[in-house]
Amino acid sequence: MRVIFLGPPGSGKGTQAKRLVASHGIPQISTGDLLREAVRDDTPLGREANGYMTAGNLVPDRLVIALLLERIRRPDCGGGFILDGFPRTLAQAEALEEALKEKAQPVEVVVNLEIDTGEVVERLIGRRVCPNGHGEWHIRFNPPKEANRCDRCGDPLIQREDDQEESIRTRMEAYSRDTKPLIDYYRNQGLLHTIDALGNLDQVTGKIERIFS
Ligand code: AP5
Repeated sequence: MRVIFLGPPGSGKGTQAKRLVASHGIPQISTGDLLREAVRDDTPLGREANGYMTAGNLVPDRLVIALLLERIRRPDCGGGFILDGFPRTLAQAEALEEALKEKAQPVEVVVNLEIDTGEVVERLIGRRVCPNGHGEWHIRFNPPKEANRCDRCGDPLIQREDDQEESIRTRMEAYSRDTKPLIDYYRNQGLLHTIDALGNLDQVTGKIERIFS
């Protein structure tokens, strides 16, 4: 199964995609996570991407497309994948389509998470992440077992640099300008399933699972 999760920042793409990994046995691929890993490892890609990400701007297509295409060629993607945060521009969508066409393995489902801006701002401002990449929580909606500590390593949780108000605004603008047009792109291909992403984590998972059944 080859699935794309579309939606504005904070709509729950990452949280829900990770839940599907367990139930469907295919990897979740988040370009945001791959880029943050490159920043943490201080690779040339990470150094180039860091400024764009902190400010809330999209990383240039040429970098992200190469990163994603390399990732989906790995053996664990043979049975499919869930893309979370890619594509985000028309150029990225076309590059993906082209690459999958060569293998005759097109995208099968696009899940579009719809949510209003007020809710996503609250979700993003309250998000806390493990500095060692062990996961993320929300101070109110999905708190860790011990306040402000990673459930896995116990280190203090931190706020993502791009979860500050100004970066959130820039990310929302980038979404409206560059990513929202993909809704029509996939609707025209008959692949789009839009769900209301309001509700608790289990309720949203339920709505997504109904698409697959
Ligand atoms: P990325 O990491 O992909 O950030 P994003 O798209 O802005 O998405 P988020 O991770 O903020 O939100 P999400 O929808 O995954 O929500 P989540 O599940 O985490 O990208 C970061 C940056 O990398 C970009 O700005 C860009 O610079 C660069 N980048 C990445 N991909 C790129 C690409 N393809 N092209 C160019 N540049 C790219 O949930 C958010 C919070 O809400 C969490 O705390 C969660 O616990 C909580 N929550 C989730 N669901 C619920 C719920 N139902 N109820 C209550 N709380 C909830």
